[in-house]
Amino acid sequence: MLELGLDSKDPLDCDVDLLVIACGEADLGRPGHLDRADARLGGILRRAIADERFQGKSGQSLVAHTNGGLPARRIGLVGIGPGSEPSGRALRIAAGNAVRLGVSVGAPHVAFSWMATTPGVAAIEAAAEGAWLGAYRFDRYLTDERRRPTPLVALTLCPPGPHDPADTAAALARARSGGRAVARARDLVNEPAGVMTPARLAELSSGWAREAGLQVEVLDRAACAELGMGLYLAVAQGSTEAPRFIHLAWKPATTRRRVVLVGKGVTFDSGGLSIKTNEGMLDMKTDMAGAAAVLAAVVAAGEERLPIEVHALAACTENMPSGSAYKLGDVLRSLDGKTVEINNTDAEGRLTLADALTFGLRLRPDAILDFATLTGACVVALGPHTAGVMSNDEALAATFLAAAEQSGEEMWRLPLPPRLAEQLKSEIADLKNTGERWGGALTAGLFLKEFVGDIPWVHVDIAGPASASKEQGHVGKGGTGFGVLSILNYLRRSAA
Ligand code: BES
Ligand code: MN
Ligand code: ZN
Repeated sequence: MLELGLDSKDPLDCDVDLLVIACGEADLGRPGHLDRADARLGGILRRAIADERFQGKSGQSLVAHTNGGLPARRIGLVGIGPGSEPSGRALRIAAGNAVRLGVSVGAPHVAFSWMATTPGVAAIEAAAEGAWLGAYRFDRYLTDERRRPTPLVALTLCPPGPHDPADTAAALARARSGGRAVARARDLVNEPAGVMTPARLAELSSGWAREAGLQVEVLDRAACAELGMGLYLAVAQGSTEAPRFIHLAWKPATTRRRVVLVGKGVTFDSGGLSIKTNEGMLDMKTDMAGAAAVLAAVVAAGEERLPIEVHALAACTENMPSGSAYKLGDVLRSLDGKTVEINNTDAEGRLTLADALTFGLRLRPDAILDFATLTGACVVALGPHTAGVMSNDEALAATFLAAAEQSGEEMWRLPLPPRLAEQLKSEIADLKNTGERWGGALTAGLFLKEFVGDIPWVHVDIAGPASASKEQGHVGKGGTGFGVLSILNYLRRSAA
């Protein structure tokens, strides 16, 4: 993993293989690192900026040799976009791009700096997270030269100061903890479904949990049947892979609040008998990204010794078609006693979540939050980068969205219109599992709402941002670990 350090000296004095300066559109015209570096380099930086048409836009970059003008062998710029002051989100992306630049030119040691008029530790935390996450790779299945170890070994942050050393140390520690949690979630998501089975997911996460001092409870099919989790087990009955209900709990000695996190843990979603197309099924190993996020986050909460009780629940299973699969028209009984008529076996996530939410309510939480790759409709509504947030509680929604904003994860509130709930009425049961086509993300949310009573609840549909088809900054292709940082920031705020 990347060795991440901090140095308060002038970045221009850093003796590294590559010095990267993040540069916004507004920074090009004002005094600072750029002009000072350019003076020492005899004008080659300004010339490179002109030749490469570098405008400071996010995603732009350039590299030039310093020819002994600076201790650093090369100097690089990464764009950071508009605005007079870089946001945490922009810095995270820029630091990720700086790491990519280092990898692409084969620089083992990179220094990273940026320009700011009001320096703050939040910026340091964001840059450190971005660098750490930008260095993430999932290469265990690559052979030969494609698996070359990353040439980048160390990154030194040279933040615009001055800063209190205790504050910066705490910011770096949070960034390392958050970065590690995101990397763990990405690893879980990126593994093929044949490897990351419910049993493997339980094994891996409970290993981390025990090391961090969490309580671990893993229920098998028989134990879940005993409890009466009829919805969850119906989804699981078509698969030869054994289901696992994972319950990890961080219980600090003193605590004021109890939060329950629920994650969708469908390790492969074929659609069941309402089978998906090849195209629709291609990325469905990622259908456990919600589980990955909550499991990684609760472990990090324990590692950080947060003074707040946190439970993570994941009802893990495959959704498969087979002779034993659940069928259209089946009427199932949930853990809380409601009956549900199945009109689409591909709407399996809400079934597994409903029983997990009921289990969660029995823990008497102050708040319950679920994360799920739940609907294609949410991706149609908000695009691939933004999660949909639904809630029955204004205060909780506001607190959570503020934490999401701080983490740089894009989320947008969606409504839960009572009129749409009529679509979930069944002739022969309490509920149907799907409504009509329009508003599919909302009817999924409304279905879940039936199972949370009046406990403050937030539902986050991460079907879009859970995996990425293009790389940008600190987020590479594949599993993104989306949700982990927002959860962690929410828990840190709730604990404070
Ligand atoms: N796992 C899918 C949702 C999904 C789609 C996640 C695309 C990521 C990318 C979910 O189980 C599903 O199949 N949802 C159906 C619901 C429908 C049957 C009401 C969907 O979105 O089509
Ligand atoms: Mn499905
Ligand atoms: Zn699914």
